[in-house]
Amino acid sequence: MARHLITSALPYINGIKHLGNMVGSMLPADVYARFLRQTGRETLYICATDEHGTPAELGAKELGLPVDTFCAQQHDAQKAIYQGFGLSFDYFGRSSSPENREITQHFARQLQKNGFIEERSIRQVYSLADGRFLPDRYIVGTCPHCGYDKARGDQCENCTRVLDPTDLIDARSAISGSSDLEVRETKHLFLLQSKLQGEVEAWIDEHGKDWPVLASSIARKWLTEGLNDRAITRDLEWGVPVPADTWPELAAEGKVFYVWFDAPVEYIGATKEWAGQDPENRDWKSWWFEADDVRYTQFMGKDNVPFHTVMFPATQLGTREPWKKVDYVKAFNWLNYYGGKFSTSQKRGVFTHDALEILPADYWRYFMMANAPESDDTSFTWELFSATVNKDLADVLGNFVNRVLSFSRKRFGDEVPAGLESGAAETDLGRQVAELLAEYERYMEEMQFRKAAQALRALWSAGNSYLEAKAPWLEIKTNPEGAALTLRTAMNLIHLYAIVSEPFIPASAAAMRSAFQLADDTATWVTSDEAKSLTFVPAGTPFTVPPVLFAKITEDDLAAYRERFGGGEEAGAQA
Ligand code: 2FM
Ligand code: ZN
Repeated sequence: MARHLITSALPYINGIKHLGNMVGSMLPADVYARFLRQTGRETLYICATDEHGTPAELGAKELGLPVDTFCAQQHDAQKAIYQGFGLSFDYFGRSSSPENREITQHFARQLQKNGFIEERSIRQVYSLADGRFLPDRYIVGTCPHCGYDKARGDQCENCTRVLDPTDLIDARSAISGSSDLEVRETKHLFLLQSKLQGEVEAWIDEHGKDWPVLASSIARKWLTEGLNDRAITRDLEWGVPVPADTWPELAAEGKVFYVWFDAPVEYIGATKEWAGQDPENRDWKSWWFEADDVRYTQFMGKDNVPFHTVMFPATQLGTREPWKKVDYVKAFNWLNYYGGKFSTSQKRGVFTHDALEILPADYWRYFMMANAPESDDTSFTWELFSATVNKDLADVLGNFVNRVLSFSRKRFGDEVPAGLESGAAETDLGRQVAELLAEYERYMEEMQFRKAAQALRALWSAGNSYLEAKAPWLEIKTNPEGAALTLRTAMNLIHLYAIVSEPFIPASAAAMRSAFQLADDTATWVTSDEAKSLTFVPAGTPFTVPPVLFAKITEDDLAAYRERFGGGEEAGAQA
């Protein structure tokens, strides 16, 4: 059986991420990793903060901190939030780690040895006001392709085209805003991607066949436009240094690698960091080197696709070493805020720390996955969020759980009641549950998360329909043994929900599961065949009634959230 390696795009170190970042990478990766683990697959889920490059330097500057101090603080802050969201990383590393430095430098040496790196003199934008070169995000201007006026020197956020600082129209410094710029000569290392174009194409022909259209179409578009050689070093203080043994002159000038050169390598670096944490010294390399038994899935937003499907594979191919390349790229569109963009720089939308401050993680996890921007952009609105929470989580699931357990305790005490043997209604229910579970499982295997969430909700709904049809609160009057059967069956559903809902709502799933004091409750998954009988929790099992699982969002709450975060008036105007 294949081992599963999962990575989610590394969040930039600067600033707390918003829900759009979360739903496009880490959360779906976590849901998938949890599902794989619970269905018995050996799984390694790796992520890290992306700490180099201009975002880190600019972020540190804003707070007046040394870059390393800034990065250490921000890493801890992000890590705590991801813990709060229940993200089950096997390891959450840092791209500024010694492990990443070592592997990045190794990659560069290999590329040099194989003739894929060349030193070139290039013209770079220099800011007279700032007294420095302005690589990447240090420069902003108008995108020559789409006209977006806040394009950065490395990429246009609007049309996702990768740019060179000298491409920008009306360029200005992101540090001082000065447009007193000139172009100066400086030496840099270039990755000769053009030489690798054919190999990357052949690799995508072979491996990209089953990728979702969003990922493969972006990769194809890139290849059709032709791979350009790209500068992979920068004049910055913070980054992986160019190794002096191979490039003494550039090293002496203090050049570092471009953040997008070392960031994907950190997927490997973080795996090595993970291994180093363990006294038994787990074998990080077996996940990455000659790892034919590993199935590697990456999660990312669409702007990251070119780097992962074309540039990093080109880098890996150029090392002429058998590094594990991605098998499946799960890419996401944007989650918008009332039809406009979530924006870190403009602080618009819902940020992950604020989200956790107002409601528990499971509310967000379920909402985001049920509305994941898989085939198109989707919009966050407070109205949709509260409708989803109130209906799916509070009414359909939470209410079922509390109603069944409270009523049974009131009528039959603290143990699952015995009552009649299963009858026709239970056989029908079992069949329906088995079908829905099989559907859910299939969508989860395929990483079709919206559909998986729908199937999960349908499973929860099936419980409600059964309960409404049997109406144990009436049954109890004429046929108490029948009512006991209904409640026992419903409690089996709760236990089943606890198991299968775990990837989406782990904390609530744990609360549901711990309601039952079963002698042996170690099963991590239920097959649809096993689910059919609905007899896992036998009569006589002690249980408790957990506190209300999901509180409804009231009109007052809604008004307060709109007030605090903005109800999208401004975004509406912009859209
Ligand atoms: O776009 C981003 O947020 C980048 N920090 C993603 C990096 S992914 C990987 F290659 F490291
Ligand atoms: Zn553009």
